[in-house]
Amino acid sequence: MIDLKGRNFLTLLDYSPDEINYLLNYAQLLKEDKKNGISHNLLSGKNIVLLFEKTSTRTRSAFEVACYDEGGHVTFLSNSQLGKKESVDDTAKVLGRIYDGIEFRGNKQETVNLLADLSGVPVWNGLTDEFHPTQALADIMTIKEHFGDLDNIKIVFIGDTRNNVANSLMIISAKLGLNFTAIGPKELFPDKEILNKVEQIAKETGSNIEVTDNIDKGIKNADVIYTDIWVSMGEEEQIKERIELLKDYQVNNNLFNKTGKDTTIFLHCLPSFHDTKTTFGKMVEETYGLTEMEVTDEIFNSDKSLVFDQAENRLHTIKAVICSTLAEEPNIIFENERIN
Ligand code: CP
Ligand code: NVA
Repeated sequence: MIDLKGRNFLTLLDYSPDEINYLLNYAQLLKEDKKNGISHNLLSGKNIVLLFEKTSTRTRSAFEVACYDEGGHVTFLSNSQLGKKESVDDTAKVLGRIYDGIEFRGNKQETVNLLADLSGVPVWNGLTDEFHPTQALADIMTIKEHFGDLDNIKIVFIGDTRNNVANSLMIISAKLGLNFTAIGPKELFPDKEILNKVEQIAKETGSNIEVTDNIDKGIKNADVIYTDIWVSMGEEEQIKERIELLKDYQVNNNLFNKTGKDTTIFLHCLPSFHDTKTTFGKMVEETYGLTEMEVTDEIFNSDKSLVFDQAENRLHTIKAVICSTLAEEPNIIFENERIN
């Protein structure tokens, strides 16, 4: 049986295919149990802190509810001294003395790595500029639930293919032997160093990884079309340039018609600019005349779109990450399952 107790969750590069599958199975059991009103109290007596430099709806909610569901306690810290009056080093040591686990969402991957190195407790990456590993777990869980298995699945990520969500999705695809195509303009191709690592992994697992700016070529046979916002948190000032680069890479009906399959589904990590019901969406409409950006409202709200299943799965996958790394007896869930 896999044992992840005491491990950090910083990037999926650190996890083996078996460990990732274990987390996915773990999440599936937790999801079923939650639907049946069963809690395992796996986090009883545990205190975790959620350290946020950037905004969040899903990740914060999922970490909080995951912890409460299993009997733990949570502190949400978004206005700490971190980086302003106190170094990451000192913050890590302080939080490690008080808490049993630390979640971090912020800018630099180095920050979450340093928290892990110096705190002495499990640290979970809730998004950095480079990676969004808990998101990728929820994405694959959603795909597996929908198709029944992951055999021969082709995922296409279209848009800003160098962003955190694309990186983590590409890594998990390579680890699990799925086929992954990144489609976007050359200026936004994935980082070479990350791509090299992914290509090495893909050689071992038999995954096919492709990066292209050719939409017609890349989109063929896609089982999953995935996109993300054109400007990630902290990049909002680049919106003009990104619209120029990405306007031809919008997910719309025309794109779906090019897959050659009528079973293709749509995924998005959210939040999404598919309408003008946000201040940013309104600003873009007024300034650039666009009412939809990375995906049309029609696709977003169609029966092809599983974005809200995906959002729900953030809870179950994050709960699996916290429990498997922090609970005293994480694998009790599998034993209970056998008894039930
Ligand atoms: N997908 C995601 O991470 O959402 P939040 O930014 O709302 O946490
Ligand atoms: N790429 C996006 C993901 C949001 C969940 C961002 O970093 O803002």
